[in-house]
Amino acid sequence: MRTHDILIVGAGLAGMRAAVAAAPGLDVAIISKVHPLRSHSVAAQGGINAAMSPNDSWEAHAFDTAKGSGYLGDQDAIEVMCQEGPADILEMERLGAIFSRNEEGQIAQRPFGGAGYPRTCYAADRTGHALLNAMYEQLLKKGVFVYEEWYVLSLIVEDTICKGVIAMDVLRGELHAIGAKAVIFATGGYGRVYSSSTNAVINTGDGMSMAYRAGVPLMDMEFVQFHPTTLRDTGILITEGARGEGGYLLNTLGDRFMSRYDPQRMELATRDFVSRCAQQEIEEGRGVNGCVLLDLRHLGKKKIMERLPQIRELAISFVSVDPIESPIPVRPGAHYSMGGIRTNAWCETALTGFYAAGECACVSVHGANRLGGNSLLETIVFGRRAGIRASEHVRTVTSVEMSSAPLQAERKKVERLLKRKDGERIGSLREDLGAAMTDHLGIFRDRERMRKALQQIRDVRQRYGTIYLEDRGTVFNTELTHALELSSLIDLAETIVVGAIAREESRGSHYRTDFPNRNDAAWLKHTLAYCTESGPRLEYAPVTITRFPPAG
Ligand code: FUM
Repeated sequence: MRTHDILIVGAGLAGMRAAVAAAPGLDVAIISKVHPLRSHSVAAQGGINAAMSPNDSWEAHAFDTAKGSGYLGDQDAIEVMCQEGPADILEMERLGAIFSRNEEGQIAQRPFGGAGYPRTCYAADRTGHALLNAMYEQLLKKGVFVYEEWYVLSLIVEDTICKGVIAMDVLRGELHAIGAKAVIFATGGYGRVYSSSTNAVINTGDGMSMAYRAGVPLMDMEFVQFHPTTLRDTGILITEGARGEGGYLLNTLGDRFMSRYDPQRMELATRDFVSRCAQQEIEEGRGVNGCVLLDLRHLGKKKIMERLPQIRELAISFVSVDPIESPIPVRPGAHYSMGGIRTNAWCETALTGFYAAGECACVSVHGANRLGGNSLLETIVFGRRAGIRASEHVRTVTSVEMSSAPLQAERKKVERLLKRKDGERIGSLREDLGAAMTDHLGIFRDRERMRKALQQIRDVRQRYGTIYLEDRGTVFNTELTHALELSSLIDLAETIVVGAIAREESRGSHYRTDFPNRNDAAWLKHTLAYCTESGPRLEYAPVTITRFPPAG
């Protein structure tokens, strides 16, 4: 059997940062369903927040983050992230990340929504790309072994200890047990549970679902972030950096509508709010073909080419609009999972030997609404902390021993899927699941619509029991991996909707038209979802408040 000291699942920024932070001398491996440079962190555009300027402070960053989170973020974890962030950015720079520069030659920073200071460091509008490539170079330098294009099916848990994972070598279709003294999940989000999202096709929440099935609670799953500006038709991200650089949002009347909703912060209000305003404009008939318009023309060609070259290319390629000459049609779209695997600020979970970091985790630094630019920061701060804490843990474990039962169970599950001779193909199930979430769990929610969604999700779960795969092969069987991914998405959809129906208030991204106000007396608490045979069982946990008492 293959074994490692630390096995990291997911090769995006959090996963690679964890590997690079793990103690020298340990046997560390990464396992990823795609090549590391295809991880979704590469798609992050606008930047990464940290208080780098003497005129800014980590406390101000922490305040903006706590307030932006609807006071649902745990302030001990927020303090860690904001305090440790600046050193982590400098570390990334020393490791080779090429940031844009200001006129003094320092790392350039731009304004982002909900921030009281321009503290978003950036590399034009390709910040994730710059960071991910720098981390990958470090991974190669350290000689970390990468299981590339291996798909993880489940955690191995015996004697209430995490002992590794069951994974499939996708190229050969073989299943293996891989033992580890510590497992770190850095598996990203689940944006693909919606029919349209800014997320890559790989973002199917596998890690969250595996943790959930292994008995680890998922926290605050009802909070799903909609980004205000995603491209018409495809839903590709058009960075908040465009508004940070001075872009306007217009409706069909040419009205800069944010001036009516928030005359102070305008387009740089928090994301949850800007998304609601844009959606309201569209639903009240002031949109343009289901979109609003992002106008950058006044920024001029030089600035657009220098700071926003990627979104210009995207707009030209996908909607035939050159933002130097015309406004870009954009609409709010599913973007980010605030909820995830519950961890503490050292990325430890309820399961011994199992850690989580990045979007799959809920530390919780984002609470009910994440500030743009805080997710990249979360990956590098908490990725590093996961690597450190897992390294400390493995020194206390002498060996990894496990039975063959988990591997046999997964082999049987896959064989059953491959043997079935008829049934429903997975495409229609995936479409129905995406439609249920998109139609009823969007920006505006109410009980009736969410109950409808729950019924539809449960119907999809039932039909999943009879799916049939046309591809019975063993070599790179993507129909099989898509079927396994669909099962993760169904789990997560259920936790999102059950948590959302229960939370009878509006906070951050969770806006209920039937309960439009925030209700701290009843709902200033985290939702925990536990997996049971009959669906998620909810419990609640207190929020950690340190220095910022909840205010309006
Ligand atoms: O708009 C953006 O560039 C996205 C940033 C983020 O989600 O943090």
